[in-house]
Order: sequence, then C-alpha cells, then structure tokens
Amino acid sequence: MIREAEWIWRDGEVIPWRDANVHLLSLAVQFGSSVFEGVRCYGTPHGPAIFRWHEHLRRLYDSCRIYRMEPEWTPDELTAATADLIARNELEACYIRPMVLRGYGDAGMMPGVSPIETFIACWPWGTYLGEGALENGVDVCVSTWQRPEPNTFPALAKAAGHYNNAQLIKMEAAANGYVEAIALAPNGLVSEGSGQNVFLVRDGVIRTTGVDGTILSGITRASIITIARDLGIEVEQGTIPREMLYTADEVFFTGTAAEVTPIRSIDRITVGAGTAGPVTLALQKQFLDIVYGRVPDRHGWLTFVEDARSGSATRRMSAADAERVGPHSHSEPSAMEPRADPGR
Ligand SMILES: Cc1ncc(COP(=O)(O)O)c(C=O)c1O
Repeated sequence: MIREAEWIWRDGEVIPWRDANVHLLSLAVQFGSSVFEGVRCYGTPHGPAIFRWHEHLRRLYDSCRIYRMEPEWTPDELTAATADLIARNELEACYIRPMVLRGYGDAGMMPGVSPIETFIACWPWGTYLGEGALENGVDVCVSTWQRPEPNTFPALAKAAGHYNNAQLIKMEAAANGYVEAIALAPNGLVSEGSGQNVFLVRDGVIRTTGVDGTILSGITRASIITIARDLGIEVEQGTIPREMLYTADEVFFTGTAAEVTPIRSIDRITVGAGTAGPVTLALQKQFLDIVYGRVPDRHGWLTFVEDARSGSATRRMSAADAERVGPHSHSEPSAMEPRADPGR
C-alpha cells in the first residue's frame, strides 16, 4: 500500500494528496494517455538529494514529444516545484512521480481540446523487490509475455499505457511464485524486466541489452555502465540470447525502483553460485555510495533539494544539463508558490 504524503503538485498549485483527481473520462483514464517518470530522492549527509533528476526530466520531455504532448511547464519550473514539494512534505527520502497526462475534453482518439495536465507526487518508498533483495538476490523467470515489437509502443517513451504489458509480466511472475520476470523481445532475444533493465556478467565482462526498440533506456542502466567503466570493467551492449542468462556467472537488474538487484536464479536454474556475485556487489556498492552521498559525486548526479528550491540562490544544474533538457523557465520563481494554501 502506498504511504501517502500530505501534498501533491498540480499545474502550479499544491493540493492535498486526496484531491489529486482526474475525471473518469479523461483520456489518461480511458486510453492510458499519460507519460511519467519514476525518480528517487535519497537521504544524504547534506540533506535530501534527487538522483539524476535532469536525466529523468529530459526523458519525461522526450516521452511528451513522442506522444505529441506539450507540457505547460519548463524543466526549471518542474525542478523547483519538485524540490519545494519534497520540502513541504517534509520528506528526507522519497520516490518522485512526475506525470504529464491528457485530461477531460474529447472522447475519441484525437486529443483536440483535452488539456495537458501535469502532476508531481512524492512519497516514502523502500526496497522494491522485497526485504533482503539487494543483499541476497531474487528468483525470477522468463515471462511467457513478450515486450511489444518496435514501432508499436515506442519503448523509449515511459508512457502509462505501456505498463499494461509490464503488469502482465509482473503478475504472471508473482502467480508462479517468482519475484520478477525477464521478458523477451518479439525476436526471442532478451529484452528487460517489467520495470528494470537486465545485465549479465561472464568472465569478468558485463553485457546488457542494447537500445533495440524494446527496452526503456534506463537511467540506472546508464549509471551502471559509467560506474563499471570507472571501475575498469568492460561493458558490452547488444543482443542477449535467452540461454546466455542461464550460463552467466552473474545476472542483475537495474532500475530506479530496483536499484542494483542481484538475480540468483532464473526459471529455477541457479545463476553462478546462487548468491549475489562479486561484480554485482562491487557495482551496487559504488552505486549506493554515490546516491547516499558517501563518496564524492564525481559525475554530478545529485540534485540537492535545498539547492533546487524556488527561492534558492545556488542551483547545481550544470550548463551541460541545462543544454540537454532544453529551454528554460522564463517565469518568476513565485509561479511555484502554491496558489491556494489548504490550511497550512
Ligand atoms: C520498463 C522499464 N525498463 C527499465 C526501467 C529502468 O529505468 P530507470 O533506471 O531509468 O529507472 C524502468 C523504470 O523506469 C522501466 O519501467
């Protein structure tokens, strides 16, 4: 069950959690016309810090572009709104869910007058794949459900409708007693988990599925590729035949929710020694040390909530980040103040 926070941001207003509703006949509800992000904010010695916020924001705008949606808000505005919301909810660490959706208006496929609405929610969230998953690994299967063919559902977009497929994968795995599943692409090669990318290790070389039109280009995936290279480990991206999963020394998932989760068996075939492997653990340690601020943030992956708030004088968004996420705010910071203060 979700652990509710107090406030949600909706198009420039901060509203009580329970008032964040959309109409039954909004296109988001009828057709899944909604794009979103899943981001983690970690507690660090310097206060809450959002992991790779600007990359998540960039992917959100990419998803909007693919689905021909024009958000009303600029990246700077959403950054300040998110930081303000985390502070206002008094969260030291949380999951953040920005959503851009098509609201109520038209009833058919053409979204004409249906407004584009933007919400940001955040709430406390622990380990996604269960207690002990990060340390001991998880048991998974290969799904009987496949990922969609390229040029059907655009896999690089993180869109709500796509997660009907992810739910089929996840629910089937759970029904059969597994924590998660790895889905194959329509060509029978390994694609990804229901909400994670897949990596394997064999003879000290890391391999992950290439960006093939069936996977989401994970931000944790990109981070792990960078960390591996920092550690001097070779990383290959490309095709993975299913049987390579069974013969790997180590297999692990990456994702915002799953972080770096070892996989100890696949289809009841033990992976390697059946425990979290040394390469996986080295990558996981480095990843967790970075996100929790225990080692220097050498790649500039942390956005500190305090720095990103609307009143803050010190923004840590680098020029390169700014360039990547596109045009910036022209509005005054006060645009981020809640229009109505429901009782606080
Ligand atoms: C289908 C899918 N693949 C992969 C990922 C991992 O992506 P990230 O590391 O950006 O969270 C996610 C999670 O967002 C996902 O939903």
